[in-house]
Amino acid sequence: MSKYITTPIYYVNGEAHIGHAYTTFIADSMARYEKLKGEDTYFLTGTDEHGQKIEESAQKNGKPTQLFADEISAGFKNLWDEFEIDYDKFIRTTDEDHKKGVQKAFEVMYAKGDIYKDFYEGHYCVSCETFFTETQLVDGEFCPDCGRSTNIIKEESYFFKLSKYEDALLKYYAQNPDFIMPRSRASEVINFVKGGLRDLSVTRTSFTWGVQMPESIKDDKHVMYVWLDALMNYITALGYGTDEANMHYWPASIQFVGKDILRFHAIYWPAFLMSLDLPLPKHIGAHGWWTRDGEKMSKSKGNVVSPREVANAYGVENLRYFMLREVPFGQDGDFSQRAFIDRINSELSNDLGNLLNRIIGMSGKYSNFEIDSVNVLKYHKKEIDAVNIILDSLDAFMENIQIHRYLEELWKLFSIGNKAIEEHAPWVKMKENKKDEALATVALVANILAKASIMLHPVMPRTTNTIADALSFSINSSSYNEFIIDKKLLKLFNIKVVPPLFPRIEEPLMPEAPSAQPNISEKSDEILEEKDNLIEIGQFFETSLKIGVVIEAEEVPKSKKLLKLLVDLGEEKPRQVVAGIKEFYSADSLLNTQVCVVANLKPAKLMGMISEGMLLAAKDEDGLCLIRPEKSKKPGTPIG
Ligand code: MSP
Repeated sequence: MSKYITTPIYYVNGEAHIGHAYTTFIADSMARYEKLKGEDTYFLTGTDEHGQKIEESAQKNGKPTQLFADEISAGFKNLWDEFEIDYDKFIRTTDEDHKKGVQKAFEVMYAKGDIYKDFYEGHYCVSCETFFTETQLVDGEFCPDCGRSTNIIKEESYFFKLSKYEDALLKYYAQNPDFIMPRSRASEVINFVKGGLRDLSVTRTSFTWGVQMPESIKDDKHVMYVWLDALMNYITALGYGTDEANMHYWPASIQFVGKDILRFHAIYWPAFLMSLDLPLPKHIGAHGWWTRDGEKMSKSKGNVVSPREVANAYGVENLRYFMLREVPFGQDGDFSQRAFIDRINSELSNDLGNLLNRIIGMSGKYSNFEIDSVNVLKYHKKEIDAVNIILDSLDAFMENIQIHRYLEELWKLFSIGNKAIEEHAPWVKMKENKKDEALATVALVANILAKASIMLHPVMPRTTNTIADALSFSINSSSYNEFIIDKKLLKLFNIKVVPPLFPRIEEPLMPEAPSAQPNISEKSDEILEEKDNLIEIGQFFETSLKIGVVIEAEEVPKSKKLLKLLVDLGEEKPRQVVAGIKEFYSADSLLNTQVCVVANLKPAKLMGMISEGMLLAAKDEDGLCLIRPEKSKKPGTPIG
C-alpha cells in the first residue's frame, strides 16, 4: 500500500523558523522511514502564497506580490534543500496546475449544490485569514486565536455548506478514533463540531490576490478564500483536476499540522473531501508549539530561533535529533541551548559516538580493523536476542508517531553495546589469550551499530550513512530487510576509521535569546559591572558536573570524617572518591544511590588515599545532605 505524507504549506510572509523546521523534520523522518521499509511513499511540502496577509506583507516590503512570494518561497525551498529534506514535490499555491485544480474542486462542490452565494457580515482576522462570530471574540474585538484586532467586513460571498456535514463528521470521528492524533486532541475538535457548524465563506471580494473563480461560474469580483485554496494543495499536488497520474497516493496516510491549524484540517478539510466524494486522510497528526527558553517566540521579542542559525552552529542532524527526541508528539516543546547541548553530549557523543570510536580502536588494535561476526552468536546470543526484541518493538512507535519513544528504545541498543564491552572487557580477554571472545564482543557492537544506524537513518540520514560507510554497508530497504527483518549479521569486513561524529560541546555555540539574558537596561549594566563576584557562563561550564552511582562504600579507619567510595561515572573504570561525610551518612546507606560529582578536579590525596572527584553537598546548622538528582539518571549524565 502506498504512503502519502504531508506538511502544512508555509505562508510566504516571513522566513522559516524553528516551528516550521519541526513539522518538516517530523514529516521527513516519517517519509524516510516508510521509504526505508520499501513502501511506495510520496512526501509533499510547499508554500501557501495567496490571501490578504501576503498581499499586505508584499506591500509593506515595497515589492510586487508575486515577486515577494517568489523570494520567500525560494527561501523555504532552499532551506529544505540545504537540510536535505527528501520531499517528492514542493508545491506552490501560485503554480498554474494548483490553481486549475482548486477551480475544478470549486466547480465540483458547486455542481453538487454544496456552494451557494449570499452575504457575509462578520469579524475578520487578517492574520489568521478567518471570520469569527461576535461571541468568539475576546473583549468584543480581538481574535481568539492570535489576539490581534479584527475588522468588521460585509461582503457578498460564496458559502460552502459546512453545516450539512456536521453529522457525517461526528460519525467519522466516532468510527475512526485515530483520525486525529494524538487522540487527546480529538475532543476539542469534536466539541467544536458539536457546538454547531456555520456555513463557511469561501470567497472574498475585498482583495484580489487569490485563485480566480472557475470559468464556468464567471464571477470576477470574487477570489477564493485562502484556506480553501491552501487545503486543496494536498490533492492538486497529486494532479487533481489536471493530470491525475499520482492520485493513487490519495488518501494521505498522515498529514502533519501544528495544533493551531488542526481545526482547518480536521473539520473543513474532511468536509471539503466529503463534498468532492474523495476519501479522507487516515490521520491528521497535530503537534505542539515550540518556545525558546520557556518564552513564546516572536519577532518583536527578537527571540525567534532561526533553523539555519542553529544548523550552522550545531549541525542540522543534531537539531533533528534534539527536536524529535525532546518532545512527545503533540506536546509543546522548549528550545534551550543547555538542553540541546546536554542531549548532544550525553546521547549522541557519549552513547553513540563513543561506542563507534571504541570498536574502531579495539578492532584496530586486536584484528587490524577486521571485523568478523562468525562468533557473535556463540558468545553473545543473550545480547543479540535482546537487540532483536527492541528492534521488533520500534515499528509500532513510529507508526503511532511516538518518535521520542522510538528513539528512547533505540538508544537501549547502545546501552547493550556499552554494557557488553564493560562486562566482557575484550582487553582482558586478549591478555588471557581468548582472542575469539574478544573479537566476538567487538563484532557484536559493530552489528548493534549497524542495526541501530539503519533504524536511526530516518532521523539522522547523513550521520548514519557515515556510520554505515565505516561498517562497509549501505542503508536502504534491502539492508533494512537483511539486518532488521531477517536479523542477519554483518559479513566479514574492514572497519574504516572515521573522525569522531559528535565532538563534545562545552559551551553554547550561539548567542542566547535577548530575553534569556539579564535585563540590559543602562542601570543594570552598571550593577553588573560592580559585582565582581559574578562569573561568565563559560567559567561555569569549565566545571564538569556529572551524575554518579556509588557502587562501593567503606569507612576510612581512624578517620572521623572520611568515607571511601567507588563511584560509577559511566566511564571505563569507576572513580575513587574520598568524602568527608561519615558523620552524616553510613557507608551502607550510600550503596547504589545517586550522587552529583565534580568530575574534572585535579586528583587530591586525603589520608594517603587518592580522591578523583568531589561530591556536591549542602551544609547548614542542621547538618549536611548530599545533592542528588530528582529522578534517576544514567551514570555520567552531565549536569548543567
Ligand atoms: N499556511 C498555513 C497552513 C496551510 S496548510 C493547508 C499556515 N502557515 S504557517 O506558516 O503560519 O504555519 C505553518 C506551520 O508552522 C503550522 O503547522 C504551525 O503550527 C507551525 N508553527 C508556527 N509556529 C510554530 C511554533 N512556534 N512551534 C511549532 N510550530 C509552529 O498556518
